[in-house]
Amino acid sequence: MSKKKVLIVFGTRYGGTELIIQKIVKLLEQAGIESNVVDLRSIKKKNWPSIGEHDAVLVGSGISMGRWVGAPKKFLKKNRDLLNKEDVIFGIFVSSGTAIDKYEEAREKYLVKFAEKNELKPDIFDTFGAIYDLSETTRAGGFARKVLQNQAIENCEKRGIEFKSNGINEFIDESRLKTFVDEFVALLTK
Ligand SMILES: Cc1cc2nc3c(=O)[nH]c(=O)nc-3n(C[C@H](O)[C@H](O)[C@H](O)COP(=O)(O)O)c2cc1C
Repeated sequence: MSKKKVLIVFGTRYGGTELIIQKIVKLLEQAGIESNVVDLRSIKKKNWPSIGEHDAVLVGSGISMGRWVGAPKKFLKKNRDLLNKEDVIFGIFVSSGTAIDKYEEAREKYLVKFAEKNELKPDIFDTFGAIYDLSETTRAGGFARKVLQNQAIENCEKRGIEFKSNGINEFIDESRLKTFVDEFVALLTK
């Protein structure tokens, strides 16, 4: 059997979604699955990858002010009919601050309702929390950096862990992430 290949496309404003994808790619690798990762905002729409040569597709986005990033949303719209077909394995996920303490609320708003509104039928969907990048290379500046910092401080205080003012503050439900990838792999290899 040839190696399965997954297309992972995403849109991030502050880098959190990309850091989650690094974890997903590692877990997929451990399951012998190769990933082709594409940051949709970094390339022109006409050069976005085609689904054709992949066995499955995962689409990820960060959430800000209640909204997905425009690029992954456009990608989903563009490829909706193909993705909704039964023979294409297709998943969506979001990086969301709300998901850290209010998982059900975030899942409902940013995944269930989002899928309904955009007429998407993903085989799998979930959210695992957020990663706040406050390092020197952070993509967040000005107001956004301040919001990330406040959310990171609040979550560190709640958990009694040290806040990294110049680092990466992670609030990810690792077991939920692992279950998501395991279920995705099961769909892919069944
Ligand atoms: C300006 C701003 C607005 C945000 N609004 C929301 C929100 O409405 N809901 C939410 O769950 N998280 C919100 N967050 C937290 C982000 O979802 C979290 O930082 C996530 O990791 C962002 O993903 P990204 O870094 O890939 O863009 C917000 C963060 C910022 C900086």
